[in-house]
Amino acid sequence: MKRLRVAIDGPAGAGKSTIARRVAEALGLLYVDTGAMYRGITWVALQKGIDPVDAGALASLARDVHMELRPEKDGVRVWIDGKDITPFLRDPRVSRAVPVVSGVPAVRGRMMELQKELARRGGVVMDGRDIGTAIMPDADVKVFLTASLEERAKRRVKELRGYGHRIDPDQVGRDLAERDRADAAREFSPLVKAPDARLIDTTGRDVESVVQEVLTLCRTRLLKG
Ligand code: DC
Repeated sequence: MKRLRVAIDGPAGAGKSTIARRVAEALGLLYVDTGAMYRGITWVALQKGIDPVDAGALASLARDVHMELRPEKDGVRVWIDGKDITPFLRDPRVSRAVPVVSGVPAVRGRMMELQKELARRGGVVMDGRDIGTAIMPDADVKVFLTASLEERAKRRVKELRGYGHRIDPDQVGRDLAERDRADAAREFSPLVKAPDARLIDTTGRDVESVVQEVLTLCRTRLLKG
């Protein structure tokens, strides 16, 4: 079978990771959560007391850090410098700092290098913000997932509660809106739909129907060879 490459982009809370993981599972492909990579480096920076606006310190960190993505049954785990840091990736402090850290060109440059390396091997479903535009501009299938801000905030509240975080739902909505703004306004590979990506609005839709829609796109692409 062709080593399919699937790019899934969209704003926070649009359902990217759920859909991407399910599509990868169904097709036996590797799932790469690029947001988790940016979150991972952000967590390490916070642990080391690096200020998220200190571009110089972040650049050295990005250069020296050893990051590994390990696919497991319950999703991909992120290992940094020999430690599994997955449990900390959704920490609200990480969520607040990650738009700033991910906008630092040296950080993006290093993460993009790692992502392009994974993309070159093929057989991958990668989700993020710039996968269809910058990481895999020649992906076999490109999808841009969206949902209303209200629905995305609701999903994020549920997810965070599931992780055991105590949260203020209004704050979650404000944080999401701010993250959307920062991701779209970023100078270096901003969040934008690739012209050839299929736009899917997941507002009010169940996961299964969206998974099936993406799988149909993949199978059609495979049949075309
Ligand atoms: O998808 P997420 O919420 O886990 O992403 C975390 C942050 O990382 C978000 O602010 C956008 C950024 N990001 C990015 O800039 N480029 C990517 N390919 C993936 C995520």
